[in-house]
Amino acid sequence: TATEDDGVLDVNELPVRYDEAQLWRIYNISESMSRRRNMMPLADILESKYGGTVWKENSKFLDVSIEKNHIKAARAFLENQNLMSEVLNSNIQELIDQESAIGVNMTQSEMGQRTKKSARSGIHWKDYHDLDTIYAFMREIRGKFPNICRLYTIGKTAEGRDLKVLRISENPKEYKKIWIDGGIHAREWISPATVTFILYQLMSKWQDHPEYIRQKTWYVMPVMNPDGYVYSRKVNRLWRKNRAPAKRSQCLGVDLNRNFDIGWSGYGSSTNPCSDTYRGESPNSELETDAVVKFLSKRKYNLESYLTFHSYGQMVVYPWAYKAVKVKDAGVLQRVANTAVQRIEKKTGQIYRASVTHEVLGIAGGGSDDWSRAALGTKYVYTIELRDRGQFGFVLPPSQILETAIEGYTVVDTVAQAIQ
Ligand code: ARG
Ligand code: ZN
Repeated sequence: TATEDDGVLDVNELPVRYDEAQLWRIYNISESMSRRRNMMPLADILESKYGGTVWKENSKFLDVSIEKNHIKAARAFLENQNLMSEVLNSNIQELIDQESAIGVNMTQSEMGQRTKKSARSGIHWKDYHDLDTIYAFMREIRGKFPNICRLYTIGKTAEGRDLKVLRISENPKEYKKIWIDGGIHAREWISPATVTFILYQLMSKWQDHPEYIRQKTWYVMPVMNPDGYVYSRKVNRLWRKNRAPAKRSQCLGVDLNRNFDIGWSGYGSSTNPCSDTYRGESPNSELETDAVVKFLSKRKYNLESYLTFHSYGQMVVYPWAYKAVKVKDAGVLQRVANTAVQRIEKKTGQIYRASVTHEVLGIAGGGSDDWSRAALGTKYVYTIELRDRGQFGFVLPPSQILETAIEGYTVVDTVAQAIQ
Protein backbone atom coordinates (compact mmCIF):
# COMPACT_ATOMS: atom_id res chain seq x y z
CA THR A 1 0.00 0.00 0.00
CA ALA A 2 1.30 3.41 -0.88
CA THR A 3 1.80 5.79 2.01
CA GLU A 4 2.88 9.38 2.24
CA ASP A 5 6.51 8.50 2.66
CA ASP A 6 7.19 5.76 0.20
CA GLY A 7 8.08 7.88 -2.75
CA VAL A 8 4.83 7.93 -4.68
CA LEU A 9 5.36 11.64 -5.10
CA ASP A 10 8.13 12.57 -7.47
CA VAL A 11 11.07 13.71 -5.36
CA ASN A 12 11.78 16.40 -7.91
CA GLU A 13 8.39 17.93 -7.39
CA LEU A 14 9.03 21.15 -5.52
CA PRO A 15 6.39 22.54 -3.22
CA VAL A 16 4.28 25.25 -4.81
CA ARG A 17 4.71 28.55 -3.02
CA TYR A 18 2.28 31.44 -2.73
CA ASP A 19 4.59 34.25 -1.61
CA GLU A 20 2.70 37.53 -1.61
CA ALA A 21 -0.15 35.93 -3.49
CA GLN A 22 -3.39 37.66 -2.50
CA LEU A 23 -6.84 36.32 -1.80
CA TRP A 24 -9.55 38.50 -3.32
CA ARG A 25 -13.29 38.51 -2.96
CA ILE A 26 -14.94 39.83 -6.11
CA TYR A 27 -18.55 40.98 -5.88
CA ASN A 28 -21.57 41.07 -8.18
CA ILE A 29 -20.32 38.24 -10.31
CA SER A 30 -23.74 37.19 -11.55
CA GLU A 31 -24.58 40.70 -12.68
CA SER A 32 -21.38 41.04 -14.62
CA MET A 33 -21.82 37.47 -15.86
CA SER A 34 -25.17 38.21 -17.40
CA ARG A 35 -23.70 41.21 -19.12
CA ARG A 36 -20.94 38.97 -20.34
CA ARG A 37 -23.18 36.40 -21.96
CA ASN A 38 -21.38 34.09 -24.36
CA MET A 39 -18.07 35.06 -22.91
CA MET A 40 -15.63 33.08 -20.85
CA PRO A 41 -16.67 32.95 -17.20
CA LEU A 42 -14.77 35.33 -14.98
CA ALA A 43 -13.29 32.47 -12.94
CA ASP A 44 -11.84 30.89 -16.07
CA ILE A 45 -10.34 34.16 -17.22
CA LEU A 46 -8.67 34.73 -13.88
CA GLU A 47 -7.37 31.16 -13.85
CA SER A 48 -6.09 31.05 -17.37
CA LYS A 49 -4.75 34.60 -17.76
CA TYR A 50 -3.92 35.88 -14.28
CA GLY A 51 -2.46 32.93 -12.39
CA GLY A 52 -5.63 32.70 -10.37
CA THR A 53 -6.85 29.84 -8.20
CA VAL A 54 -10.56 29.87 -7.50
CA TRP A 55 -11.26 29.24 -3.83
CA LYS A 56 -14.99 29.68 -3.84
CA GLU A 57 -17.71 30.76 -6.18
CA ASN A 58 -21.34 31.44 -5.39
CA SER A 59 -24.16 33.64 -6.48
CA LYS A 60 -22.83 36.66 -4.58
CA PHE A 61 -19.06 36.59 -4.87
CA LEU A 62 -15.97 34.87 -6.16
CA ASP A 63 -12.95 34.23 -3.93
CA VAL A 64 -9.80 33.86 -5.95
CA SER A 65 -6.11 33.91 -5.12
CA ILE A 66 -3.84 35.75 -7.52
CA GLU A 67 -0.13 35.13 -7.81
CA LYS A 68 2.15 38.03 -7.00
CA ASN A 69 3.34 38.81 -10.50
CA HIS A 70 -0.21 38.94 -11.87
CA ILE A 71 -1.70 41.23 -9.26
CA LYS A 72 -1.24 44.47 -11.16
CA ALA A 73 -2.72 43.18 -14.37
CA ALA A 74 -5.56 41.39 -12.62
CA ARG A 75 -6.42 44.54 -10.71
CA ALA A 76 -6.51 46.53 -13.93
CA PHE A 77 -8.70 43.90 -15.51
CA LEU A 78 -11.22 44.06 -12.67
CA GLU A 79 -11.30 47.84 -12.80
CA ASN A 80 -11.85 47.66 -16.50
CA GLN A 81 -14.79 45.34 -15.94
CA ASN A 82 -16.16 47.58 -13.19
CA LEU A 83 -15.95 44.77 -10.68
CA MET A 84 -15.83 45.55 -6.98
CA SER A 85 -13.35 43.57 -4.95
CA GLU A 86 -11.80 43.34 -1.56
CA VAL A 87 -8.47 41.87 -0.42
CA LEU A 88 -9.18 39.12 2.11
CA ASN A 89 -5.55 38.25 2.58
CA SER A 90 -2.37 39.74 1.20
CA ASN A 91 0.10 36.91 1.62
CA ILE A 92 -1.17 33.38 1.25
CA GLN A 93 2.22 31.81 1.81
CA GLU A 94 2.26 33.48 5.22
CA LEU A 95 -1.11 31.88 5.98
CA ILE A 96 0.20 28.49 4.94
CA ASP A 97 3.39 28.91 6.95
CA GLN A 98 1.45 29.96 10.04
CA GLU A 99 -0.76 26.95 9.66
CA SER A 100 2.16 24.56 9.81
CA ALA A 101 4.25 26.56 12.29
CA ILE A 102 2.24 25.21 15.18
CA GLY A 103 4.49 22.59 16.68
CA VAL A 104 7.62 24.60 16.01
CA ASN A 105 6.67 27.30 18.49
CA MET A 106 4.85 25.11 20.93
CA THR A 107 5.32 25.57 24.64
CA GLN A 108 6.51 22.66 26.79
CA SER A 109 3.07 22.03 28.22
CA GLU A 110 1.42 22.09 24.81
CA MET A 111 4.07 19.65 23.69
CA GLY A 112 3.30 17.43 26.68
CA GLN A 113 -0.39 17.41 25.87
CA ARG A 114 0.32 16.57 22.33
CA THR A 115 2.49 13.60 23.02
CA LYS A 116 0.20 12.27 25.73
CA LYS A 117 -1.25 9.81 23.33
CA SER A 118 -4.41 8.26 24.59
CA ALA A 119 -4.56 6.56 21.26
CA ARG A 120 -1.96 4.53 19.44
CA SER A 121 -2.65 6.41 16.27
CA GLY A 122 -1.74 9.60 18.10
CA ILE A 123 -4.70 11.44 16.68
CA HIS A 124 -5.96 14.67 18.24
CA TRP A 125 -7.76 17.76 17.06
CA LYS A 126 -5.14 20.40 17.68
CA ASP A 127 -3.61 19.95 14.29
CA TYR A 128 -4.18 18.42 10.85
CA HIS A 129 -2.95 14.90 10.30
CA ASP A 130 -1.38 12.95 7.51
CA LEU A 131 -3.26 10.15 5.80
CA ASP A 132 -1.39 7.42 7.66
CA THR A 133 -2.49 8.80 11.01
CA ILE A 134 -6.09 8.98 9.89
CA TYR A 135 -6.01 5.41 8.59
CA ALA A 136 -4.25 4.21 11.75
CA PHE A 137 -7.03 5.83 13.76
CA MET A 138 -9.66 3.94 11.76
CA ARG A 139 -7.82 0.66 12.38
CA GLU A 140 -7.54 1.53 16.02
CA ILE A 141 -11.28 2.01 16.38
CA ARG A 142 -11.94 -1.26 14.62
CA GLY A 143 -9.48 -2.93 17.00
CA LYS A 144 -11.17 -1.48 20.07
CA PHE A 145 -14.73 -2.30 18.99
CA PRO A 146 -14.34 -5.40 16.83
CA ASN A 147 -17.92 -6.53 17.41
CA ILE A 148 -19.58 -3.45 16.00
CA CYS A 149 -16.97 -2.15 13.56
CA ARG A 150 -15.99 -3.26 10.15
CA LEU A 151 -13.24 -1.66 8.09
CA TYR A 152 -13.58 -1.82 4.32
CA THR A 153 -11.13 -1.05 1.59
CA ILE A 154 -13.61 -0.15 -1.11
CA GLY A 155 -11.05 0.52 -3.81
CA LYS A 156 -7.72 2.04 -4.71
CA THR A 157 -6.62 5.37 -6.10
CA ALA A 158 -4.59 6.11 -9.21
CA GLU A 159 -1.50 6.34 -7.02
CA GLY A 160 -2.31 3.06 -5.30
CA ARG A 161 -3.66 4.26 -1.99
CA ASP A 162 -6.52 2.50 -0.21
CA LEU A 163 -10.00 4.00 -0.08
CA LYS A 164 -11.24 3.22 3.41
CA VAL A 165 -14.69 3.16 4.96
CA LEU A 166 -15.49 2.28 8.56
CA ARG A 167 -18.88 0.81 9.38
CA ILE A 168 -20.24 1.04 12.90
CA SER A 169 -23.36 -0.93 13.68
CA GLU A 170 -24.89 -3.18 16.29
CA ASN A 171 -27.35 -4.47 13.73
CA PRO A 172 -26.41 -3.82 10.10
CA LYS A 173 -29.40 -5.69 8.70
CA GLU A 174 -32.04 -3.73 10.53
CA TYR A 175 -30.82 -0.30 11.43
CA LYS A 176 -31.21 2.74 9.26
CA LYS A 177 -28.01 3.89 7.63
CA ILE A 178 -26.16 7.18 7.65
CA TRP A 179 -23.21 7.82 5.35
CA ILE A 180 -20.62 10.46 6.23
CA ASP A 181 -17.71 11.47 4.04
CA GLY A 182 -14.94 14.02 4.02
CA GLY A 183 -11.98 15.01 1.95
CA ILE A 184 -13.59 14.92 -1.48
CA HIS A 185 -11.62 18.09 -2.10
CA ALA A 186 -7.96 17.85 -1.16
CA ARG A 187 -7.32 21.33 0.23
CA GLU A 188 -10.33 21.34 2.56
CA TRP A 189 -8.32 19.90 5.43
CA ILE A 190 -10.91 20.76 8.04
CA SER A 191 -13.19 18.18 6.45
CA PRO A 192 -11.21 14.98 7.23
CA ALA A 193 -10.35 16.53 10.59
CA THR A 194 -14.05 16.96 11.34
CA VAL A 195 -15.04 13.52 10.09
CA THR A 196 -12.37 11.82 12.23
CA PHE A 197 -13.67 13.83 15.18
CA ILE A 198 -17.18 12.60 14.43
CA LEU A 199 -15.83 9.03 14.56
CA TYR A 200 -14.21 9.81 17.86
CA GLN A 201 -17.40 11.35 19.29
CA LEU A 202 -19.44 8.36 18.20
CA MET A 203 -17.07 5.75 19.57
CA SER A 204 -15.54 7.28 22.68
CA LYS A 205 -18.85 7.09 24.52
CA TRP A 206 -20.80 4.65 22.42
CA GLN A 207 -22.68 3.10 25.34
CA ASP A 208 -23.80 6.50 26.61
CA HIS A 209 -25.37 7.62 23.36
CA PRO A 210 -29.12 7.81 22.94
CA GLU A 211 -30.87 5.19 20.83
CA TYR A 212 -31.09 7.46 17.84
CA ILE A 213 -27.29 7.23 17.60
CA ARG A 214 -26.74 3.63 18.71
CA GLN A 215 -29.55 2.18 16.65
CA LYS A 216 -28.11 3.32 13.35
CA THR A 217 -25.63 1.89 10.93
CA TRP A 218 -22.87 4.42 10.29
CA TYR A 219 -20.64 4.41 7.26
CA VAL A 220 -17.77 6.83 7.63
CA MET A 221 -15.20 7.71 4.98
CA PRO A 222 -12.93 10.48 6.28
CA VAL A 223 -10.87 10.86 3.10
CA MET A 224 -12.55 10.22 -0.24
CA ASN A 225 -9.61 11.71 -2.13
CA PRO A 226 -6.42 10.40 -0.48
CA ASP A 227 -4.10 11.13 -3.44
CA GLY A 228 -5.21 14.74 -3.51
CA TYR A 229 -4.94 15.03 0.25
CA VAL A 230 -1.36 13.80 0.29
CA TYR A 231 -0.49 16.09 -2.62
CA SER A 232 -1.99 19.09 -0.84
CA ARG A 233 0.16 18.31 2.20
CA LYS A 234 3.35 17.73 0.26
CA VAL A 235 3.30 19.91 -2.80
CA ASN A 236 0.42 22.29 -3.36
CA ARG A 237 -1.64 23.41 -0.38
CA LEU A 238 -4.41 24.62 -2.68
CA TRP A 239 -4.87 21.44 -4.71
CA ARG A 240 -8.57 20.46 -5.05
CA LYS A 241 -8.93 17.47 -7.42
CA ASN A 242 -7.67 13.90 -7.38
CA ARG A 243 -4.37 13.08 -9.09
CA ALA A 244 -5.46 10.92 -11.99
CA PRO A 245 -3.56 11.52 -15.24
CA ALA A 246 -5.61 12.80 -18.16
CA LYS A 247 -5.62 11.07 -21.54
CA ARG A 248 -5.12 14.09 -23.73
CA SER A 249 -3.62 16.71 -21.46
CA GLN A 250 -0.56 17.46 -19.39
CA CYS A 251 -2.86 18.69 -16.66
CA LEU A 252 -4.07 16.12 -14.24
CA GLY A 253 -6.83 15.62 -11.72
CA VAL A 254 -10.60 15.41 -11.79
CA ASP A 255 -12.96 17.25 -9.47
CA LEU A 256 -14.62 14.27 -7.78
CA ASN A 257 -17.59 16.39 -6.82
CA ARG A 258 -18.30 16.98 -10.51
CA ASN A 259 -17.78 13.38 -11.56
CA PHE A 260 -20.95 11.72 -10.23
CA ASP A 261 -23.72 10.67 -12.57
CA ILE A 262 -26.22 13.44 -12.03
CA GLY A 263 -26.42 16.49 -14.27
CA TRP A 264 -22.88 15.55 -15.22
CA SER A 265 -22.69 17.38 -18.52
CA GLY A 266 -24.62 20.39 -17.28
CA TYR A 267 -23.67 23.62 -15.58
CA GLY A 268 -20.97 24.31 -13.08
CA SER A 269 -18.23 22.01 -14.26
CA SER A 270 -15.56 22.12 -16.92
CA THR A 271 -14.53 19.93 -19.84
CA ASN A 272 -10.99 21.28 -19.56
CA PRO A 273 -8.60 18.94 -17.70
CA CYS A 274 -6.65 21.97 -16.52
CA SER A 275 -9.65 23.42 -14.73
CA ASP A 276 -10.15 22.95 -11.02
CA THR A 277 -13.72 21.85 -11.71
CA TYR A 278 -12.87 19.38 -14.48
CA ARG A 279 -15.67 16.82 -14.54
CA GLY A 280 -13.61 13.95 -16.01
CA GLU A 281 -13.96 11.86 -19.17
CA SER A 282 -17.35 10.46 -18.24
CA PRO A 283 -19.56 10.03 -15.17
CA ASN A 284 -17.83 7.75 -12.62
CA SER A 285 -14.64 7.83 -14.68
CA GLU A 286 -12.63 8.19 -11.46
CA LEU A 287 -11.61 5.30 -9.22
CA GLU A 288 -12.79 7.17 -6.13
CA THR A 289 -16.22 7.94 -7.57
CA ASP A 290 -16.59 4.43 -8.93
CA ALA A 291 -15.69 2.85 -5.59
CA VAL A 292 -18.18 4.95 -3.63
CA VAL A 293 -20.93 4.49 -6.19
CA LYS A 294 -20.52 0.71 -6.24
CA PHE A 295 -20.26 0.46 -2.46
CA LEU A 296 -23.33 2.55 -1.75
CA SER A 297 -25.46 1.23 -4.58
CA LYS A 298 -25.23 -2.21 -2.96
CA ARG A 299 -26.25 -0.74 0.37
CA LYS A 300 -28.96 1.72 -0.56
CA TYR A 301 -31.63 -0.22 1.34
CA ASN A 302 -32.34 1.74 4.53
CA LEU A 303 -29.87 4.49 3.57
CA GLU A 304 -31.58 7.50 5.10
CA SER A 305 -28.85 10.09 5.06
CA TYR A 306 -25.83 11.17 3.03
CA LEU A 307 -23.67 13.78 4.74
CA THR A 308 -20.65 15.21 2.95
CA PHE A 309 -18.26 17.65 4.59
CA HIS A 310 -16.56 20.46 2.69
CA SER A 311 -15.17 23.89 3.41
CA TYR A 312 -15.59 26.79 3.52
CA GLY A 313 -18.54 29.16 3.94
CA GLN A 314 -20.46 27.89 7.01
CA MET A 315 -23.53 26.41 5.38
CA VAL A 316 -25.78 23.40 5.59
CA VAL A 317 -27.29 22.85 2.14
CA TYR A 318 -29.55 20.26 0.53
CA PRO A 319 -30.48 19.31 -3.08
CA TRP A 320 -30.72 20.19 -5.71
CA ALA A 321 -27.41 21.59 -6.85
CA TYR A 322 -27.56 20.52 -10.50
CA LYS A 323 -30.78 22.39 -11.23
CA ALA A 324 -32.60 25.36 -9.75
CA VAL A 325 -35.35 23.25 -8.23
CA LYS A 326 -35.89 22.11 -4.67
CA VAL A 327 -36.46 18.49 -3.75
CA LYS A 328 -40.08 17.66 -2.99
CA ASP A 329 -39.62 17.41 0.76
CA ALA A 330 -37.46 20.54 0.93
CA GLY A 331 -39.61 21.78 3.82
CA VAL A 332 -38.49 18.89 6.01
CA LEU A 333 -34.86 19.22 4.97
CA GLN A 334 -34.91 22.95 5.61
CA ARG A 335 -36.39 22.45 9.10
CA VAL A 336 -33.78 19.90 10.13
CA ALA A 337 -31.04 22.15 8.77
CA ASN A 338 -32.51 25.09 10.69
CA THR A 339 -32.38 23.07 13.89
CA ALA A 340 -28.77 22.15 13.22
CA VAL A 341 -27.65 25.72 12.62
CA GLN A 342 -29.53 26.97 15.68
CA ARG A 343 -27.83 24.36 17.83
CA ILE A 344 -24.46 25.32 16.37
CA GLU A 345 -25.00 28.95 17.23
CA LYS A 346 -25.87 28.04 20.82
CA LYS A 347 -22.77 25.87 21.12
CA THR A 348 -20.02 27.90 19.52
CA GLY A 349 -21.64 31.19 18.54
CA GLN A 350 -20.92 30.61 14.87
CA ILE A 351 -23.54 31.46 12.27
CA TYR A 352 -24.19 28.80 9.65
CA ARG A 353 -26.71 29.26 6.89
CA ALA A 354 -29.34 26.63 6.04
CA SER A 355 -30.54 26.63 2.45
CA VAL A 356 -31.09 24.77 -0.76
CA THR A 357 -27.75 24.37 -2.56
CA HIS A 358 -28.34 26.07 -5.88
CA GLU A 359 -29.52 29.28 -4.24
CA VAL A 360 -26.36 29.85 -2.24
CA LEU A 361 -23.67 28.00 -4.16
CA GLY A 362 -24.94 28.27 -7.69
CA ILE A 363 -25.85 25.45 -10.04
CA ALA A 364 -23.32 22.65 -10.41
CA GLY A 365 -23.84 19.12 -11.68
CA GLY A 366 -21.98 15.89 -10.88
CA GLY A 367 -22.04 16.22 -7.09
CA SER A 368 -22.12 13.27 -4.73
CA ASP A 369 -24.97 14.82 -2.74
CA ASP A 370 -27.36 15.08 -5.70
CA TRP A 371 -26.30 11.65 -6.90
CA SER A 372 -27.19 10.05 -3.59
CA ARG A 373 -30.59 11.68 -3.64
CA ALA A 374 -31.36 10.92 -7.28
CA ALA A 375 -29.83 7.47 -7.68
CA LEU A 376 -30.29 5.99 -4.21
CA GLY A 377 -33.33 7.89 -3.01
CA THR A 378 -31.58 9.05 0.15
CA LYS A 379 -33.80 11.49 2.01
CA TYR A 380 -31.57 13.52 4.31
CA VAL A 381 -28.84 14.68 1.98
CA TYR A 382 -26.69 17.54 3.20
CA THR A 383 -23.48 19.15 2.14
CA ILE A 384 -21.92 20.92 5.08
CA GLU A 385 -19.58 23.78 4.30
CA LEU A 386 -17.51 24.12 7.47
CA ARG A 387 -15.56 27.19 8.65
CA ASP A 388 -14.73 29.82 7.98
CA ARG A 389 -16.43 32.59 6.02
CA GLY A 390 -13.38 33.72 4.10
CA GLN A 391 -10.79 35.10 6.49
CA PHE A 392 -8.57 32.02 6.27
CA GLY A 393 -10.59 29.97 3.83
CA PHE A 394 -9.06 26.56 3.24
CA VAL A 395 -6.07 27.45 5.40
CA LEU A 396 -8.08 27.39 8.61
CA PRO A 397 -5.78 27.71 11.66
CA PRO A 398 -5.43 24.52 13.71
CA SER A 399 -6.72 26.41 16.74
CA GLN A 400 -10.15 26.35 15.11
CA ILE A 401 -10.28 22.63 14.33
CA LEU A 402 -11.91 21.43 17.51
CA GLU A 403 -14.75 23.95 17.58
CA THR A 404 -15.41 23.46 13.88
CA ALA A 405 -15.48 19.71 14.37
CA ILE A 406 -18.02 20.16 17.16
CA GLU A 407 -20.14 22.14 14.72
CA GLY A 408 -19.89 19.23 12.28
CA TYR A 409 -20.88 16.73 14.92
CA THR A 410 -23.85 18.88 15.83
CA VAL A 411 -25.18 18.49 12.30
CA VAL A 412 -24.68 14.72 12.49
CA ASP A 413 -26.48 14.49 15.83
CA THR A 414 -29.36 16.63 14.61
CA VAL A 415 -29.86 14.58 11.47
CA ALA A 416 -29.64 11.29 13.38
CA GLN A 417 -32.29 12.56 15.75
CA ALA A 418 -34.57 13.43 12.84
CA ILE A 419 -34.38 9.85 11.57
CA GLN A 420 -36.51 7.61 13.76
N1 ARG B 1 -18.21 23.50 -2.51
C1 ARG B 1 -18.85 22.30 -2.98
C2 ARG B 1 -18.43 22.02 -4.41
O1 ARG B 1 -18.21 22.95 -5.14
C3 ARG B 1 -20.33 22.46 -2.89
C4 ARG B 1 -21.06 21.24 -3.22
C5 ARG B 1 -22.52 21.49 -3.33
N2 ARG B 1 -23.12 20.43 -4.07
C6 ARG B 1 -23.01 20.30 -5.39
N3 ARG B 1 -23.52 19.22 -5.93
N4 ARG B 1 -22.48 21.24 -6.16
O2 ARG B 1 -18.30 20.91 -4.80
ZN1 ZN C 1 -15.37 21.09 -1.43
